[in-house]
Amino acid sequence: MVLLKRQLILWVWVSSALVVYSLPWRVSCPTGCVCQMKPWFSPQSVSCEASTVDCNNLFLTQLPSPLPPDTHTLRLQSNLLSALEIPLLHTLPNLTELDLSQNRFSCVRTLTLTQPQAASLPSLLSLHLEENQLWFLPPASFSSLPALQELFLSHNRLFYLAPGAFSGLGLLLRLHLNNNHLTSIEPRWFTDLGSLHSLVLGGMGLKGLTERALEGIPGLKFLDLNKNPLSVVQTGDFRDLVHLTELGLNNMEELVAIERAAMENLPELTKLEITNNPRLSYIHPQAFLRLGRLESLMLNSNALSALHQHTVLSLPSLREVSLYSNPLRCDCLFRWVAKEQPHTDTQMPQAVVVKPDPGTTCPAAVGTCWF
Ligand SMILES: *[C@@H]1O[C@H](CO)[C@@H](O)[C@H](O)[C@H]1NC(C)=O
Repeated sequence: MVLLKRQLILWVWVSSALVVYSLPWRVSCPTGCVCQMKPWFSPQSVSCEASTVDCNNLFLTQLPSPLPPDTHTLRLQSNLLSALEIPLLHTLPNLTELDLSQNRFSCVRTLTLTQPQAASLPSLLSLHLEENQLWFLPPASFSSLPALQELFLSHNRLFYLAPGAFSGLGLLLRLHLNNNHLTSIEPRWFTDLGSLHSLVLGGMGLKGLTERALEGIPGLKFLDLNKNPLSVVQTGDFRDLVHLTELGLNNMEELVAIERAAMENLPELTKLEITNNPRLSYIHPQAFLRLGRLESLMLNSNALSALHQHTVLSLPSLREVSLYSNPLRCDCLFRWVAKEQPHTDTQMPQAVVVKPDPGTTCPAAVGTCWF
């Protein structure tokens, strides 16, 4: 009997725990969709229960109806939508997240109505448009969404963004543009993005950075440029981004060199990752200037035969340099590491751990270095 009671208590406890994850929401729900209260995380990672209409994978060619007026999250992923009936959306004053990924949008005007006088979606914080067929963004493409904090445009066909494409999005925190066909970064795209923290520009055709390309984004903290055909990181490419904390330059097939002062005055940068670039053989001894807080320098799987001692000495907060899978040449260039590990030389910052491949032992041979 006691056992039975315990089981009952356990059952009640388990089922109430399950219920937390999707509570019924008694509204008239569009045919084929599921209307529930579901946990939702805001762009600042605050969670709440959100009235959610889930209409994913339904071959929809137009918005379902009737949509409950207090819809918070509307999921329309994997349908056949190419236009939205905007007036219908405007009956949802509390719409906070809209997922339109994997649809057939090719033109942003069919999405948001860009006329300045058009009614807006005042509560929308998060808009998903991944895997559509957008190829062009006109000026102020999303200005009818003044509250927007996250905009996901990955895996479209974008090859042209007009100057001011994102104007009106002064509260945007996160912008994903990866896997499109853009070949250069224009500073004029980013005017007005005063709150932007996180920018993903990986997997495109970026061959270089236009001068001052990122200067219009004063608050930028995370920048991802992975998988672009950049061949040289040039002097001044990353300069004066005073809030940048992490930078990734990984998986670049074409990258061969990092020039003098390629990274300069990035006072909050703590992690720099330059890995898996099979042709990267040269980092100028003074490539990194005024990176006062850099702690972690990841240089694995490149084609480096050397890392100049000056590079390490110029980084006062450095704690770790990782150099696995590089064809390091002991004879001339790398012997300072062999000589100075562990912590013998007065010049070497005490705490730095340099990690070449295990078994790299360097005889103190003399050679000629090429830088
Ligand atoms: C929108 O949210 C507000 C505040 O929570 C609420 O008072 C209002 O009734 C909601 N509007 C609709 C149409 O549900």
